Amino acid sequence: MPKKTTLSLIKADVGSIAGHQVVHPRLEELAQESLEEARSMGVLEDFYVTHCGDDLELIMTHRLGVDSSKVHELAWLTFKKAAKEAESLHLYGAGQDLLVDAFSGNVRGMGPGSAELEFQERPAEPVAIFMMDKTEPGTFNLPIYRMFADPFCAAGLVIDTAMHEGFRFEVWDIKASRRVFFDCPEEMYDLLAFIGTKGHYVIKRVYARSGKVPKDEAVASVSTDKLSQIAGKYVGKDDPVALVRSQSGLPAMGEVLEAWSWPFLAAGWNRGSHTGPVIPVGMKDNRVSRFDGPPRVFGLGFQVSDAKLIGPVDLFDDPAFDNVRRDAADLADYMRRHGPFEPHRLPMDEMEYTTMPQLMAKVKDRWEDLA
Ligand code: F6R
Ligand code: MG
Ligand code: MG
Repeated sequence: MPKKTTLSLIKADVGSIAGHQVVHPRLEELAQESLEEARSMGVLEDFYVTHCGDDLELIMTHRLGVDSSKVHELAWLTFKKAAKEAESLHLYGAGQDLLVDAFSGNVRGMGPGSAELEFQERPAEPVAIFMMDKTEPGTFNLPIYRMFADPFCAAGLVIDTAMHEGFRFEVWDIKASRRVFFDCPEEMYDLLAFIGTKGHYVIKRVYARSGKVPKDEAVASVSTDKLSQIAGKYVGKDDPVALVRSQSGLPAMGEVLEAWSWPFLAAGWNRGSHTGPVIPVGMKDNRVSRFDGPPRVFGLGFQVSDAKLIGPVDLFDDPAFDNVRRDAADLADYMRRHGPFEPHRLPMDEMEYTTMPQLMAKVKDRWEDLA
């Protein structure tokens, strides 16, 4: 049996240019050098450094499995180096996502976000890597659901016998730190009842139920770290990432992309406190602008071959997505006109890490009872 391959994406915002807009190229160079050294020492098989808005993204392949302390420490030390450089360049928010001083075995709970998949490579292994800025992990619920459970998006659920039995969803309750599994299509309505509450229940992994991929091998994985809970106060939305395997009994790459074909609404945007449309962008538009957004998704496609990354393809750099982008810009206009009113501004309980507690304290003695 050939060795399994692990694909790890670990990301952090360690400082950016012109406010929270985009990573400085020097930070990417530093990360490149750091991962190159790790590859030459045999820790990594391959890597690709990129960014999504103000988040530095380390895409890595290796043989060390999910949650490897070696790989997580490498990412942590790389972010530390980049944060130091960000400080010396006086970049904005230098070191923002590095919430603790010392590394302790795994980046989880320390600020950076991570998504990982370990698998036995198929003869050809296409993967899509999605990175989002100015939004939260639950924003992946809708597109991942569409890729793996919605026949109006993934035609293979109807047409391909290898997909016809559907997929299994692992859903995390990120507030109570517990998980539950749903088999689709038969438990589709149960699944939807939970994952519609995006700030509370998030799809963590998806598993195939038929076809050639082993049933215990995840075919999609989403980062679920919640910065505000880790830090105990608001320090920015956690800008999630996801890894999705595709083709040959899994959703075709085109079906994986079809899930982003309309600008659905997500929480995040300015100050992590507003609802806005998700815009799929190619590298050319891979940074936020208006009102610190709107939330963006950037996607890269690779073939993983003997743990090497062949590619990337800039997945949304295509006129076929121009209509979504235009609709998203129109929606952004529409939502912005609400100013500080819901549903553009998030409900109060999702604003608890911003000004609301202070404001409540300020007026606490001014409330008069109604007769
Ligand atoms: C959203 C985000 C930005 C900041 C905003 C204020 O995730 O990062 O919208 O919240 O630019 O930032 P500060 O408080 O750093 O001036
Ligand atoms: Mg930032
Ligand atoms: Mg960000």
